[in-house]
Amino acid sequence: MNIILVAAECAPWSKTGGLGDVAGALPKALARRGHRVMVVAPMYGNYAELKESGVRKMYKVHGQDVEVSYFQAFIDGVDFVFIESHMFRHIENNIYGGQRLEILKRMVLFCKAAIEAYDASDPITFVSSQGNIPVLGCPPVEILQYVAQVPWYVPCGGVCYGDGNLVFVANDWHTALLPVYLRAYYRDNGLMNYARSVLVIHNMAHQGRGPIDDFSYVELPENYKDLFKFDDPIGGTHFNIFAAGLKTADRIVTVSHGYSWELKTSEGGWGLHGIISENDWKLKGIVNGIDEKEWSPQVDVHLTSDGYTHYSLETLKTGKPKCKAALQKELGLPVRENVPLIGFIGRLDDQKGVDLIAEAIPWMVDQDVQLVMLGTGRPDLEQLLRHFESQHHDKVRGWVGFSVKVAHRITAGADILLMPSRFEPCGLNQLYAMSYGTVPVVHAVGGLRDTVQPFDPYNESGLGWTFNKAESGRLIHALGNCLLTYREYRNSWEGIQRRGMTQDLSWDNAAQNYEEVLVAAKYHW
Ligand code: GLC
Repeated sequence: MNIILVAAECAPWSKTGGLGDVAGALPKALARRGHRVMVVAPMYGNYAELKESGVRKMYKVHGQDVEVSYFQAFIDGVDFVFIESHMFRHIENNIYGGQRLEILKRMVLFCKAAIEAYDASDPITFVSSQGNIPVLGCPPVEILQYVAQVPWYVPCGGVCYGDGNLVFVANDWHTALLPVYLRAYYRDNGLMNYARSVLVIHNMAHQGRGPIDDFSYVELPENYKDLFKFDDPIGGTHFNIFAAGLKTADRIVTVSHGYSWELKTSEGGWGLHGIISENDWKLKGIVNGIDEKEWSPQVDVHLTSDGYTHYSLETLKTGKPKCKAALQKELGLPVRENVPLIGFIGRLDDQKGVDLIAEAIPWMVDQDVQLVMLGTGRPDLEQLLRHFESQHHDKVRGWVGFSVKVAHRITAGADILLMPSRFEPCGLNQLYAMSYGTVPVVHAVGGLRDTVQPFDPYNESGLGWTFNKAESGRLIHALGNCLLTYREYRNSWEGIQRRGMTQDLSWDNAAQNYEEVLVAAKYHW
């Protein structure tokens, strides 16, 4: 099948959160299953490693001429295509920054240009490491050979672009216009006739809302206006891009089963629960995977220096303590093997429940523990982190900033990872933690509930601790039980670590589930 995943961010080039990781990794897993996959993302800076494809395309939608360039890199069987335009240049990592209309116009251009990246009647020829590959004409030989070994795909119509066997995968509100454009402008256009779309919800809290007049900027026929018109207690009658995309997409995916359920409730649907419920027939929850080239204690590139070391299930008992000592040293905390080291990594905001940790800190500092928190976000919470560090210098570190390296090192060196998120569509840090033998303590919502089965001391089963209400008292209770097990029941502790590390958290599982949705979008509608 031909798959084009379109996302506003794509790691390692651009990333503000989990969406970037997903856009960088899921496509590779789909390619490993024999699909022909392209990722389209905006080019926010000067990505020096990309060669200009040399293609400048003019396209006209509703009388407007817009000129963009396409840059490409062929990596692990996937064509990563970046759209260059004066509207994206110099944005760097402030991807969602700027005025509302500015962002809206950027996303309009991006969605249209992403659809235009596929244009079989005028194949774009990219120069990749394999030489000249007509990306939109025919896949590279090695992929054809690989696909030939996977006959299951043959009935789906082969693998060449241009045969109409195409599904777009849009992500979050930023690309929720794509299914609408596809329907409005491309369905009657020969080769695109058969293109279908899937919209993935990573976070429903952001919806592309605005006053109803914003419709004039999306350049659609007037009869599409009602699709965007939405009335709810949060916004009154307003313009809502996510709403339009959800109604129009052929299938909807969200990043965990728990979140797909929550989205249908008035508490969890951010006003759109009605639309989600009406479209339940096309909704599926698929838990994200992790990129094991990036996130595995056996190959992690951030564990090769400064006293850190690689480790595996076999070397857990020697390797992980080494990483812990290296982390304590790097942070300037007392180097002590037996003190539980608790980590938090994430945006400092209400969603991530940082205020619950803040409320629990007086209790925590009364225990013999160490705590390290890494993140940026709300200035008052950043200030609070600095304050706790200065007040409890022998126990607490508040690292304000974002460092991929430090995130990896905390994941390896900590014993426990706290994730008290108020809502969490999937959550990746708890998955990373478990694969490094770091035990998660989480608020049981969304993907956290799906992925962290609570420890059951009677059956010696489970992967961590959960609590059922976003309250610091509950967090303290769960963390208290966790610390007790860490101190008193070492065999149980090691069992939890080992079960976490032996799970298959790879993208391959998730890719198989995505494949089912893509086939359904294409053939059952
Ligand atoms: C968003 C969600 C997070 C999820 C990620 C990737 O950032 O908040 O829970 O893991 O998207 O899907």
